[in-house]
Amino acid sequence: MKRIAVLTSGGDAPGMNAAVRSVVRSSINRGLEVYGISYGYLGLIRGDIKKMSLSDVGDIIQRGGTSLHSARCPEFKDESVQEIAVKILKEYHIEGLVVIGGDGTFRGATALENHGIKTIAIPATIDNDIPITESSIGFDSALNTVIEAVDRIRDTATSHERTFIIEVMGRDSGMLALYSGLGSGAESVLIPEEPYDFEKITSKIKRGMERGKAHSIILVAEGVMSAEECSKLLSKELDIETRISVLGHIQRGGRPSAKDRILASRFGHEAVTLLLNDYSGEMVYLKNNTISHVSYDTVLSEKKELDTSLIEIINELSI
Ligand code: F6P
Repeated sequence: MKRIAVLTSGGDAPGMNAAVRSVVRSSINRGLEVYGISYGYLGLIRGDIKKMSLSDVGDIIQRGGTSLHSARCPEFKDESVQEIAVKILKEYHIEGLVVIGGDGTFRGATALENHGIKTIAIPATIDNDIPITESSIGFDSALNTVIEAVDRIRDTATSHERTFIIEVMGRDSGMLALYSGLGSGAESVLIPEEPYDFEKITSKIKRGMERGKAHSIILVAEGVMSAEECSKLLSKELDIETRISVLGHIQRGGRPSAKDRILASRFGHEAVTLLLNDYSGEMVYLKNNTISHVSYDTVLSEKKELDTSLIEIINELSI
């Protein structure tokens, strides 16, 4: 293998830049030519491709977002669009591709695999909903961002004795809401993976009020309902002052945490090693602080396990 390319696709995640840097530098230092494809699969079909040098990825390890830009490309599901991508990769003599993103990105890579292109995937999404890997790039940074936001909201919630309902991203996954709920000391967390009981939530708030605690933080994962809907349901049951806060894309931006930079650097390095050793159709993953790899088929056929027993801990610790 002489020439590979790298792209970032889907929702961006803090640490993607560290992964791109790692792929580019690991490739060049091992004698490969490496190309950067801008705007994910959309950029690929448009031929938005340029050769990368060591210095093209200088000064980006600490930056959020992705310097290669990202895009969602629903049309990539079409066979005819995939054929355009394959043709362009062949024109550039690109023999291997590293894709960085979430499950939609892996589906695109699977399609390229079926057309004979060698690909390796790196999991990157703040949702952390990719099976097998304990962590995806961006999750730890987003978790820290959410916890910091909740800390700030708690200050004002305490001052005004209010209940706050905070909406957390995650699409269909409650991972980000669950971990940030535990880490921020939220009173209640609503996630799609566990049925919620409004009765329990309201009686907890009432119990708190009886012992003189007049503020509460409720985290609701966007996959359950919106903060607004949650607030309406709550106010039917309780006569209390509530405010809502939708954290939104603040969760996606900002400097990557140390953990994400290190994970991204390790994943990028491993992805290049795998391509050089003729692997293809594999996702790199983290387990017990070890990096390994697994086929896309396995990843896409499994469901991410979420430790819902953490809900019990949240309930026990927040009185
Ligand atoms: O997958 C990452 C994510 O931030 C989800 O948590 C969220 O539902 C979605 O992307 C938002 O997508 P967009 O930025 O396209 O609105």
